Amino acid sequence: MENNIQKVLISQEQIRAKVQEMAAQISAEYADKDPVFVGVLKGVVIFFADMVREISIPCEIDFMCLSSYGGTNSSGNVVVKKDLSVDIKGRHVVILEDIYDTGRSLDFTRKYLLSKEPASLKICTLLDKPERRVDGITLVPDYVGFTIPNEFVVGYGLDFNEHYRNLPYVGVLKPEAYEK
Ligand code: IMP
Ligand code: MG
Repeated sequence: MENNIQKVLISQEQIRAKVQEMAAQISAEYADKDPVFVGVLKGVVIFFADMVREISIPCEIDFMCLSSYGGTNSSGNVVVKKDLSVDIKGRHVVILEDIYDTGRSLDFTRKYLLSKEPASLKICTLLDKPERRVDGITLVPDYVGFTIPNEFVVGYGLDFNEHYRNLPYVGVLKPEAYEK
């Protein structure tokens, strides 16, 4: 195991089983709908790649990139750094997300995509940290992989200072790793 990891919260095997289960459910629900899967970079890339390879129906994929600005603490202001390339008007869209934390980025993404008038919009998140939600965000994801406690996690796409995204599991960092 990587040296700076205190514990594995969700193993590679657990993730694989959950991805297969969610992808099978989505494939059944979206058969004949030719959905567009939208990923918000970069944290979602690993989950996204694993999910779409388990999707057994025709579909398209696309990506967006957001960035936060304004102020020292995360003020919740979000801008679109890279927009979609697919026109989603009238399409069935499923947002794939790595983690639903405070909910600011998902809330923004959802409203932004709704403004493009898709036929439908659902949200699939690998991880959900319900204790972290900020006021006013009431969005309920349609598909949730794992509900996790209020701990900062890395791996399987999730980073700390852009590191650890390549770990094949979701883990918790040792406290010393934050000081490096
Ligand atoms: P939000 O707070 O729900 O808007 O989440 C914004 C982004 O913060 C997520 O897409 C992740 O990239 C990142 N994030 C939130 N919680 C964690 C965590 O525990 N580990 C790593 N990244 C996180
Ligand atoms: Mg991140």
